[in-house]
Amino acid sequence: MPALINPSILSADFANLERDLAAIATADYAHVDVMDNHFVPNLTLGLPVVRRIAEVSPVPVDVHLMIEDADRWAPVYAEAGAASVTFHTEAAKAPVRLARELRRLGVRVGVALKPASPVEPYLDLLEEIDMILVMTVEPGFGGQSFIEGTLPKIRRARAAIDAAGTGTWIQVDGGVARPTIRRIAEAGANVFVAGSAVYGAPDVPAEIAALRALADD
Ligand code: DX5
Ligand code: ZN
Repeated sequence: MPALINPSILSADFANLERDLAAIATADYAHVDVMDNHFVPNLTLGLPVVRRIAEVSPVPVDVHLMIEDADRWAPVYAEAGAASVTFHTEAAKAPVRLARELRRLGVRVGVALKPASPVEPYLDLLEEIDMILVMTVEPGFGGQSFIEGTLPKIRRARAAIDAAGTGTWIQVDGGVARPTIRRIAEAGANVFVAGSAVYGAPDVPAEIAALRALADD
C-alpha cells in the first residue's frame, strides 16, 4: 500500500486555517490534534473548530484525540465530520466498546499509544480497529525530536498485522521528517503525520511530495 501523508495542522497558522488547509490539498488526510490540558499539558481546539475544519478541508479529517474521557467524547467527534477518529488507550475505559461504537458511526477507528505504552494488548484485537497510532514523541507539542526507541514497537505491530492479515494501518506521529521517514517506513508504518516538517517548509506541496517519495522508496 502506498504511504499516506497526513500533515498536522498543529503547526499551521490558527488565524489562517482555511488557507493552510488549502495548502495541503495534495496530502491524504488533515491530521487534527485535539488537546484538553488534562491528558496532555496543552490546549488546542475543540468541537466547533473541528466541525468547520471538516467543512472546508480539501482532504478528509483525521482527528487525534489527546483528551480524557475518550469513551464519552470520541463519538461526538465522529459525528462532527471526521473521517477517522483516534483515541488514546490510556484515556479509554472500554476501548473495544468505544471502537465498535465509532465503527457504527461510520468512521475509521484508531487507537493511539504513548511512547512508553505497550502495543501487545492490542495485537489480539486487530479485528476491532482500523489503525494503530504509535506516538514517536510524547504527545502534547509539535517540533520534538523522534524517539528512536519506538521503532521496535512499530516492527512488532507490523509483524502481527501481516500475520493476522487484517490490513490494519500503522500511523506514526512525532518527529516525522526527511531524515527519519525512511527508517520509520522500513519498520512497517504506512501513515505518516508530519507537522513542523510540512508547515515549516518553504514549499508545502513539494514537502508533501518529498516525504511521500522517501516513504515509498
Ligand atoms: C503531538 C501531535 C502531533 C504533532 C507532531 O502531540 O500529536 O501531531 O503535530 O508534530 P511534529 O511533526 O512537528 O513532530
Ligand atoms: Zn497528532
